[in-house]
Amino acid sequence: MSDGLEGVVAARTVLSDVDGQAGHLIIRGYSLDDLAGRTRFEEVAHLLFDGFFDDMPADLTRALSEARAAVFVETAALDERLLALSPVEAMRALWARLADGDGLDTALKLLAAPAVFTPAVVRAQAGQSLVPPDPSLRHSADILRMLHGRPASEAEADALDAYLVTVSDHGLNASTFAARVVASTQAGLTSAVLAGISALKGPLHGGAPGPVIDMLDGIGRPENARAWLEAALDRGERLMGFGHRVYRVRDPRADVLKAAVRRMSEGSNVLPGRVAFAEAVEKAALEILRDRKPDRPLDINVEFYTALLLEALAFPPTTFTGVFAMGRTAGWIAHAREQLVGGRLIRPASQYIGPEPRQAA
Ligand code: COA
Repeated sequence: MSDGLEGVVAARTVLSDVDGQAGHLIIRGYSLDDLAGRTRFEEVAHLLFDGFFDDMPADLTRALSEARAAVFVETAALDERLLALSPVEAMRALWARLADGDGLDTALKLLAAPAVFTPAVVRAQAGQSLVPPDPSLRHSADILRMLHGRPASEAEADALDAYLVTVSDHGLNASTFAARVVASTQAGLTSAVLAGISALKGPLHGGAPGPVIDMLDGIGRPENARAWLEAALDRGERLMGFGHRVYRVRDPRADVLKAAVRRMSEGSNVLPGRVAFAEAVEKAALEILRDRKPDRPLDINVEFYTALLLEALAFPPTTFTGVFAMGRTAGWIAHAREQLVGGRLIRPASQYIGPEPRQAA
């Protein structure tokens, strides 16, 4: 038995391939480096969905815009009890109001849901009026507009596209596996996506970038980095944004996102300093991890520069997992469809290690 199913092949997929030794990510036949920064999220969602739905249009932009408008009505259910939850929990509760189904219509509403609900929850929690979607905009620009209540610049929308594309799919990670298990029971796409978001929100998976900001804020200045990081490890904590189950080298997504942050920082007064500070923390963390864990290669993962990019786009840290979900939902849906079309019920075995059978009193 493999602890945590490490190395176990549990599905065959045409969707993405993670090469942990070489540090490469392939999404449906394209290297991530060729997709991020050059394609819009709608194009990559189309790439992932292609062949899994009968009625796919040539371009998803319009259909996804209409789906954003369609799901916005669910925000009427945002009452005091939902608003007392964390943004990701409130968003999940709204998501759960969508009916189950297996078709493209359901898929597009599910894809639109985190993009519409996350800004709505944050604005409602801040006592601001909600900004309805604008179907004439591309997905990334509309997300930023719904969050900030002002039009996004091209550079901001491009940076968010680069992020959403980068996290759209990543092999059989924990949330995608959870989504495939539920899809294998034929429960429907909404149920599969809800399984995905529930797995994603944990700090060992998609919940890490918020704590990355806490770590950077705690460190404060580059010269404090070593002492702060050493003290955290002495307390038995893990450094958020470092380590990965599959990658034994740099996570390729980290550099793609770092490049996107750099592109954004041109013309900014504040961002270059923040990037330089993050690089100093990264360097110190890698040196310390190398010293402390010489036998376990621990490098930077996607979450470190995710935190910097989303902070630069003025997403509050409490929304970071919801923004991750905006991208990863494309992968969950494609995997759920792939499982449904060609897969069998996922039902592994367990090994009993409890007490021997005895007579009940
Ligand atoms: N900081 C410090 N030590 C770490 C670490 C980190 N970020 N990640 C792993 N380690 C250490 C573990 O403590 C363990 O040491 P030990 O053998 O002395 O106990 C060793 O490396 C192996 O860890 P393990 O838990 O087996 O790795 P995993 O494959 O199960 O975990 C992660 C992968 C991602 C869960 C893990 O690296 C982690 O918790 N990272 C921080 C959270 C994060 O950034 N998550 C986002 C992932 S994209």
